[in-house]
Amino acid sequence: MKILLTGGAGYIGSHTGVELLEAGYDVVSVDNYVNSQPEALRRVEAITGKKVTAYEADVCDKAALERIFEAERPDAVIHFAGLKAVGESVAKPLMYYRNNLDSTLALLETMKKYGCTRIVFSSSATVYGQPEVLPVPETARLGCSSPYGWTKYMIEQILRDEAVADKELSVVLLRYFNPVGAHPSGLIGENPNGIPNNLMPNVLNAASGKMKELKVFGGDYPTPDGTCVRDYIHVVDLAKGHVRAIRYAMEHTGSEAINLGTGVGYSVLDIINSFEKSTGVKVPYVMTDRRPGDIPTVYADPSKAARLLDWRTEKTLDDMCRDSWAFKSRNPNGYEAE
Ligand code: NAD
Ligand code: UFG
Repeated sequence: MKILLTGGAGYIGSHTGVELLEAGYDVVSVDNYVNSQPEALRRVEAITGKKVTAYEADVCDKAALERIFEAERPDAVIHFAGLKAVGESVAKPLMYYRNNLDSTLALLETMKKYGCTRIVFSSSATVYGQPEVLPVPETARLGCSSPYGWTKYMIEQILRDEAVADKELSVVLLRYFNPVGAHPSGLIGENPNGIPNNLMPNVLNAASGKMKELKVFGGDYPTPDGTCVRDYIHVVDLAKGHVRAIRYAMEHTGSEAINLGTGVGYSVLDIINSFEKSTGVKVPYVMTDRRPGDIPTVYADPSKAARLLDWRTEKTLDDMCRDSWAFKSRNPNGYEAE
């Protein structure tokens, strides 16, 4: 069975490629490398000993997509491709709406033309905005606080509408919480372009001396230690969730939104402590003002994923920190030069 990954060279796409290949699927990647490098796919092949068919193309380019579908005839699609920096989306909303929405529309139209009826989509916990209930169930009220978040919200709606209109379509909307960690081989991991915004890449930069110190954004939140609480999920657990979602999509039609998280919240200081304990490396940090827009506490209710996908996370916070550090230590300049 052949699975087409849009954005297959990215952080989550590359880890999912490994898990799909190891589960016996064939993998085709379509990526324009706007936020990744083809080297990631070569490393997926090195880890698995299996081939990835890679196309360099913009998913917004429908003619290119049609050529790829004509040649590959995929059985299902996982749609990772998208721009994902929250701050950049506030500064450049049109770029985000154009890229994330156009790519989805071109993909859905192409899937329809070629009779491909199964799609798994990378949504985000950001669609919950400030949650009213914790842990957050899929039934929680939705609302976003950035153009990036609204693209996820709108794409979810487009996919749900399409699943109502086309009874053969199967749509799985995976709402990821906070993916961190790397493949235990140390060969693939998160390799952000430019200055990172997220916590773990900054922890790694502070630990490696690339950055003087980690700024902890706010120590006065209504949480046990005053720092924000999130549901960090190991990217390998997340990737395995996609294999389960593909299996589910093959057996069902209609649409389902499913949280992928651990169900446990950890604070920024928990991450620093776990990192220092599991790696033996100090993380110099300083408490600063709150970052505008941050929500004090968010963590998932992952029971629907357990029920529908028979999926649960297995990795610990220490695994997430240790594997992130192993990738960073082995690839101090990302994929550029090993
Ligand atoms: P990533 O940037 O590493 O991967 C996205 C990939 O898509 C990149 O390889 C990029 O080059 C490619 N891409 C973007 N636009 C494209 C286009 N028009 N045509 C072809 N390729 C294109 O990001 P990631 O962390 O792997 O995230 C994957 C998906 O999961 C994204 O949709 C993201 O919004 C979503 N998501 C990520 C997180 C997170 O914290 N990492 C959380 C929730 C949801
Ligand atoms: N943080 C710091 N210092 C840093 C970076 C982050 O203290 O240098 C803190 C933040 O204030 C927050 C926590 O670490 O409390 C996590 O921040 P991230 O930026 O790593 O993650 P967010 O939860 O803010 O954002 C993530 C994804 C977004 C998504 C959002 C909502 O990165 O794409 O979850 O689901 F929109």
